[in-house]
Amino acid sequence: MIARLHLRDFRCYAELDQPFAAGANLLVGPNGAGKTNILEAIYFLAVGRSPRSARDADLVRQGAAGFAVAAETDGAHRLGVTYREHAGRAWSVDGKVAANPFGLLTVVFFSPDDLWLVKGGPSGRRALLDRVLLQLRPLHAEQLAAYEDALAQRNALLRDVKARRAGRAMLEVWEEQLVEYGVGVTLRRSAIAADVGERARTLHARLAPGEDLSCTYVSGITGKEPAGTAAPLREAFAAALAEARPREIERGFTLIGPHRDDWSILVNGLPLRGFGSQGQQRTAVLALKLAERAALESETGSPPVLLLDDVLSELDGSRREAVRALTEGEGQAFLTSTEPEGRPAAVFFVGGGRLRTEPSP
Ligand SMILES: Nc1ncnc2c1ncn2[C@@H]1O[C@H](COP(=O)(O)OP(=O)(O)O)[C@@H](O)[C@H]1O
Ligand SMILES: [Mg+2]
Repeated sequence: MIARLHLRDFRCYAELDQPFAAGANLLVGPNGAGKTNILEAIYFLAVGRSPRSARDADLVRQGAAGFAVAAETDGAHRLGVTYREHAGRAWSVDGKVAANPFGLLTVVFFSPDDLWLVKGGPSGRRALLDRVLLQLRPLHAEQLAAYEDALAQRNALLRDVKARRAGRAMLEVWEEQLVEYGVGVTLRRSAIAADVGERARTLHARLAPGEDLSCTYVSGITGKEPAGTAAPLREAFAAALAEARPREIERGFTLIGPHRDDWSILVNGLPLRGFGSQGQQRTAVLALKLAERAALESETGSPPVLLLDDVLSELDGSRREAVRALTEGEGQAFLTSTEPEGRPAAVFFVGGGRLRTEPSP
């Protein structure tokens, strides 16, 4: 957890040195007050990028030449990053230079933009599964990268074959690689999807009693949930690739494989994508994010810091109450809202580049 956060020239904060509570921290203030900026700083420390800006320079307070973000964790470690124009970033742990300190602080972030998780295409849903796997199974990162590399090579070759710059024989070499790595990626995703999906269903039932959330992993190899063991899947993938080859040469793109995986999300048997209300979609995404956090916690033993940006708005009273019950329990959370509400461990009134524990008069 974050015991203390220090910001210098980050977004609208010239200088901030702020202790936080172990439970739920509610950040209150009008639009543009600087609430999301706090969550953004925490996310940046944990993940190494901003959830809303691709460029580090955007994070520098207007007129300054760089920023610094640091957190003291409850284990009394200090994790920090500085950024300066031209020089770039420098990370440190306890004052010592660190190349890649991600993983020391784990977070789960939810903002209104995450509605794309249920409204948008499958890539966001694959990303959620991969995010959990990347933290829990170091092998997954390696195999996913190897798969994506083989995929890019095969796609390039498909276009060369079509243009008669290359023969078909080489395709098989890349297909062997796709099968080798793709089957592992598929089986790990399918296992974590079942785990996270089951947790999401339970959490969702608490948020929206009477509505049933179900998540089904749909393999890009078989078009359905894979049966569980590697050997038949390997065979099915190799056969499907061989069968699809003529169409794929025509399209210049590999049509089968885990890069086409999806995770289908239904409420009461209907796809949320076309049928859910805004509030129902939000509730489902929240359940998925809380499930992501619970899955990480069950493996690492400590719950990731939960960052909930503008989640309480747009939920009805009983769902808001359920969110509070879920977040005011275990672990540390940061929530933003335009109004004080619930019984968080601490309330901060945000404005003017400062956090106050009392509303300004
Ligand atoms: N690089 C920057 N330098 C100075 N101020 C910034 C910078 N980026 C954003 N801001 C200011 O931060 C405020 C938005 O903060 P934000 O945390 O998104 O607000 P909210 O409380 O609505 O979540 C705006 O007033 C904006 O002008
Ligand atoms: Mg905001």
